[in-house]
Amino acid sequence: MKKKLITAIDVGTTKVCTIIADVTDPATTRVIGVGITPSKGLHKGLVVNINEAREAIQASVRKAEILCNHKVESAYVGVTGRNVSSLNNRGVISINRDDRLVRPDDLRRVLTTAQAIAVPSDRRLLHVIPRNYAVDGQVGVKNPIGMHGFRLDVETHVITAAATSVQNLVKCVRSCGIEIEDLVLEPLASSEAVLTNEEKQVGVALADIGGGTTDIAVFRDGSIWHSAVIPVAGYQLTRDIALGLGVPFDVAEEMKKKYGSVMPVYEGQSKENEGISHDSHGASYQDLSDILKARVEEILKLIVLEMPNSSWESLVPAGLVLTGGSSNISGLSVLAHDTLHVPVHIGVPGPSLTGIADNLKDPCYATAVGLLLWGNNHLPAQNWQSNEFGDTFKKLGTHIKKFFT
Ligand SMILES: Nc1ncnc2c1ncn2[C@@H]1O[C@H](COP(=O)(O)OP(=O)(O)OP(=O)(O)O)[C@@H](O)[C@H]1O
Ligand SMILES: [Mg+2]
Repeated sequence: MKKKLITAIDVGTTKVCTIIADVTDPATTRVIGVGITPSKGLHKGLVVNINEAREAIQASVRKAEILCNHKVESAYVGVTGRNVSSLNNRGVISINRDDRLVRPDDLRRVLTTAQAIAVPSDRRLLHVIPRNYAVDGQVGVKNPIGMHGFRLDVETHVITAAATSVQNLVKCVRSCGIEIEDLVLEPLASSEAVLTNEEKQVGVALADIGGGTTDIAVFRDGSIWHSAVIPVAGYQLTRDIALGLGVPFDVAEEMKKKYGSVMPVYEGQSKENEGISHDSHGASYQDLSDILKARVEEILKLIVLEMPNSSWESLVPAGLVLTGGSSNISGLSVLAHDTLHVPVHIGVPGPSLTGIADNLKDPCYATAVGLLLWGNNHLPAQNWQSNEFGDTFKKLGTHIKKFFT
């Protein structure tokens, strides 16, 4: 069976993570190289210093390449930042051929009409994702190819980003000698790694709380319903601790990771007044926890404000899945459940990966692992032995954008 190498690069605000995998079929992703380096030149998910960011990407890619002795030529790269925006749109075409049979070409045509919103020159189209089709008014069709009808409607989720910020990221990656296979919105990537198809079908919200941004995606009926990026995450938690306890930023960061907890009730009551110390700086558990809790509650409120409507709980019966490095804060899922009154769990990526994937089973790698899975799921059909209609259908959403850009 044909083997193909896929590379994912997650250029995060705190770390750059490169994963190289070989895939022999859509279900098998074997990790052969991993390179993780601290990030530089990024702020709130956006490149602010091209040279620094390029160096960090280069270092991360080299590490992964050395492990597997392969040169990375192209990669799937994540995009985030406050200037990403999304909307739901519709398109319609008539099927004029005599047999009235819906073909792949018709899907391309209807998706073209669905993105007929004017994308201003300062924006770049990232995704036009088909959510649902209707054939002659029969709604809820997931794959209309092969059906007969006069009229084909599509509902799509359209995601755009500021052209300049995308260009800066692309420039950094290309200057490392790496072509972009696809640019993927980070919450979409993370959702590939930590959400199940059942959750997406029932209705679920995902929040990837990273270092610089909290990336949100809402799924319903198996398709993306809403996506958003909030520029508040782990960095603000550390800054609050630094300011609140009067300690340097790096000490605050260590304290947060080592002792940070938002447990509503302390397990050992004696802990409340117990002291913690790092690098000759001291504080109490209670103070640290109070500071963290206030900011985490604010982030949870911001997540709810991003939900598509006020009765969002009924939209997502499967609840909220939290991931990203900041979801490691102890007690987070309990606090989120108590505050939001929906089921909450922490999404850990990597159960389906084989190879040297053990270190990737941490929420902070949800985006990188998701980019890899996205890459595998959206490979051009000719790379696989089977070339079914279903494959073609799945890939249209991403490849259509190349046509437009
Ligand atoms: N155990 C822990 N407790 C609390 N916070 C943690 C823990 N481990 C990691 N973090 C925080 O997670 C954040 C990094 O998460 P992640 O790696 O997902 O971010 P990123 O992808 O680099 O950034 P972004 O996606 O926002 O651009 C940092 O702010 C870090 O302090
Ligand atoms: Mg991230």
